[in-house]
Amino acid sequence: MNKAKTNIILNEDYKDNKILFDKGEGDKIFFKNKAYIDLSNCAGSLILGHNSQVFKKSLKLYLNKKISIFAHPNAHAINFLKNIKKNFPNFSRIIFCNSGTEAVMKSLRLSKSLNKKNLIANVTGSWHGSVDKLLFYPDKYLKPQNISDGLSLEDKKRLIYIPYNDIEKSNKILNKFKNDINCIIIEPIQGCLPLDNAKKYLKFLEKFCKINNIILIFDELITGIRIRPGSIQRKYKINADITTIGKIVGGGLPIGMIGISEKINKIMKRKKIKVFFGGTFSGNSLSSFIGNETLKFLLKNKKLFSNLNKKCLHFQKNLNQFIQKEKIGAKVYRFDSILRIVFSKKEIKNRAQRDFFEKKNVSKLVKFRQYLLDNKIYYPTSGIIFLSDSTSYKSINYVLKHIKFALKKLI
Ligand SMILES: Cc1ncc(COP(=O)(O)O)c(C=O)c1O
Repeated sequence: MNKAKTNIILNEDYKDNKILFDKGEGDKIFFKNKAYIDLSNCAGSLILGHNSQVFKKSLKLYLNKKISIFAHPNAHAINFLKNIKKNFPNFSRIIFCNSGTEAVMKSLRLSKSLNKKNLIANVTGSWHGSVDKLLFYPDKYLKPQNISDGLSLEDKKRLIYIPYNDIEKSNKILNKFKNDINCIIIEPIQGCLPLDNAKKYLKFLEKFCKINNIILIFDELITGIRIRPGSIQRKYKINADITTIGKIVGGGLPIGMIGISEKINKIMKRKKIKVFFGGTFSGNSLSSFIGNETLKFLLKNKKLFSNLNKKCLHFQKNLNQFIQKEKIGAKVYRFDSILRIVFSKKEIKNRAQRDFFEKKNVSKLVKFRQYLLDNKIYYPTSGIIFLSDSTSYKSINYVLKHIKFALKKLI
């Protein structure tokens, strides 16, 4: 047989990775039976850890009940929605999607249907997945630059940036363009720098949108469910018009959702707006069933969230004390159970500063990650550390020991 024909062309991620994980249990993932402590937990999707009791029990139940999947509305999706609503009482209508990316993409479509304005205002430092309209990053003049080939120039022209947590500058830009801005989309607490100081800024955006007939989209892919009592908007009492959630919601299976506020739902009804949201696996009963069982467990075990936050606080405090004592150029930032180590001596206030000051450490960072991997610790490529309910203090202390050693030696 022709050899060229049998070769599989792999994605970049696969070409460069020699470690291909094949199993997971609790706070560990495995490659050829070697255990690694997982600091990613599937980019924050597995709040209960790998193959949790809840996941295994729900999967067994799903099989025993012979549930199967249907490309048609089903009872499991409806049961799921009832519990989603308990966490997000402000959702008047919920749209099922299969990923965060899809939820963001369809949110922008919905937003576009609501008014005739053309610009999307994105907020610096926000990540919204593989969405064509948003696959740009702001340069130092806040002009969009491509993250990928294959993007449309029209999309680029329709995108403006406002700086995260900078009310004065954002206000100036927003005022200049307000008559053309269709929506503001924001990752309210950012994985790139999880800080606890954005409440005033988020309230400012809420007010600005309300006054100027702009749709406010909160991308709560990471914060949805994770942040008590269910989301950032609920914690800060902010009314987002459209919300995207996913990750934890799927209980370990692919999912995305759009939550539409009562205000927007009423406009849709009044203007008879019809947006296409369908898809083969949207609201499929497997993700819905497992997601619902997970959600029911989380609703009953609310202490789990404070315990997880305590673990993350321990991680942060212990490491920052060491960093200070040893005068190392790094700091752990945290919002509840979202953790990130920034490799710089400077006090970082935003993504642009983070990128600038971390730039000179890029090669050291590669060695840092490799050192951890050699010591059986998986450090996420995104840099966002997510521990889970099953991450033990023993594992955390083991990780801390090795991170301290690596920081001292390499950074
Ligand atoms: C805030 C945010 N929005 C959107 C996405 C995209 O979600 P997905 O990877 O499920 O497409 C992510 C993924 O990490 C995210 O963190």
